[in-house]
Amino acid sequence: MTMIDIAALSDIPPQGARVVRTPHGCVAIFRTADDRVFALDDRCPHKGGPLSEGIVHGTQVTCPLHNWVFDMQTGLAQGADKGTVATYPVRVQEGRILLDIRLIRRAA
Ligand code: FES
Repeated sequence: MTMIDIAALSDIPPQGARVVRTPHGCVAIFRTADDRVFALDDRCPHKGGPLSEGIVHGTQVTCPLHNWVFDMQTGLAQGADKGTVATYPVRVQEGRILLDIRLIRRAA
């Protein structure tokens, strides 16, 4: 798996996000309060809201437009809402965030 270094963990505030632009669209990188990271498409499946501007709580993010909640581990909408956001392998190693660039390309 080809992982690319995209940022330092400290570049993302706890419970915050940053956007990585890829050839196939923007990917939101989220950091939880306990320093886990998740990578999801930065586009809500409901009406395209920017999930990177949503609220991170636990391992979930709430879309800023209509409050749909997504599990960042699976990308699945929670509760009665139906939808899935693509997720991508990402990990933290020695304080750096590494993202699988091949899967981003494959998802296009
Ligand atoms: S666009 Fe995200 S909940 Fe509507």
